[in-house]
Amino acid sequence: MLKLLRTPGVRFMSRTVALNANKTTHFGSKTVPMEQKEKLVGDVFSSVASKYDLMNDVMSLGIHRLWKDHFIHKLDAGKRPNSVEPLNFIDVAGGSGDIAFGLLDYAEEKFGDVESTMDIVDINPDMLKEGEKRAMENKKYFNNPRVNFIVQNGEILDKIVSDSKDVYTVSFGIRNFTDIQAGLNTAYRVLKPGGIFYCLEFSKIENPVMDLAYQQWAKLLPVMGSIVANDYNSYEYLVESIERFPDQESFKSMIEKAGFKSVGYESLSFGVCAIHWGVKV
Ligand SMILES: C[S@@+](CC[C@H](N)C(=O)[O-])C[C@H]1O[C@@H](n2cnc3c(N)ncnc32)[C@H](O)[C@@H]1O
Repeated sequence: MLKLLRTPGVRFMSRTVALNANKTTHFGSKTVPMEQKEKLVGDVFSSVASKYDLMNDVMSLGIHRLWKDHFIHKLDAGKRPNSVEPLNFIDVAGGSGDIAFGLLDYAEEKFGDVESTMDIVDINPDMLKEGEKRAMENKKYFNNPRVNFIVQNGEILDKIVSDSKDVYTVSFGIRNFTDIQAGLNTAYRVLKPGGIFYCLEFSKIENPVMDLAYQQWAKLLPVMGSIVANDYNSYEYLVESIERFPDQESFKSMIEKAGFKSVGYESLSFGVCAIHWGVKV
């Protein structure tokens, strides 16, 4: 059965709230008390949840589908026919289920893997409900004991046992974390030795001409958001959160700081986004 596990009180509040009293962080271009960021990010994704595909299509001109497809194919994950052990996947900030369902479909199509399990984790119940709705629509992952939907903060993952996961994915989610380094440290904790951290996120455009073109496009996005979704503020936050996210090399250093080895990245579309990875040894 598809389980929607809820952690009481975790919705937009977490242990980080108590730890971060009096500290500030950024929310887009604004500086806000650290304990407020979770709620503000939660409001953004509750607001865009029902128009999630539209948001992605507007933000990326539809290219997010190609990036996600490449992300899944490059990872090439699944229980091999000669292996006895199914894989335990966790897709953090998994919301809509795009990546999680894509990974399970790929594992089945390529390796005949119908045993590996998937935890889809997101801090926002509204985003998880979107994923649950999609699972119901496509039927395949509805009432499926291999798939759990769990409301959890990716910085903490206190319902996820240490050293329990083979593959940790996070797609267009980690830049929204209040404490990104805490999220990476937690990814390291929940992975088994030999497990892989694998992330898709907006990044730094390496080509100056493309960067200039993107800057112009980015200025239009909040206006587009207000036209197509009547939501200027959410789109403004999403653009600003992309600008604030560390570049490829800085994020690579943060992944190394969490303890990962064999760390690397691949820039996509001139660096509009990048795939990052690391292995827990
Ligand atoms: C742009 S969506 C990405 C959804 C999906 N992974 C994809 O690629 O389509 C970002 C997601 O990150 C989630 N999120 C933000 N902060 C989070 C946190 N601290 N822990 C877990 N999820 C978080 C949001 O609720 C939202 O569902």
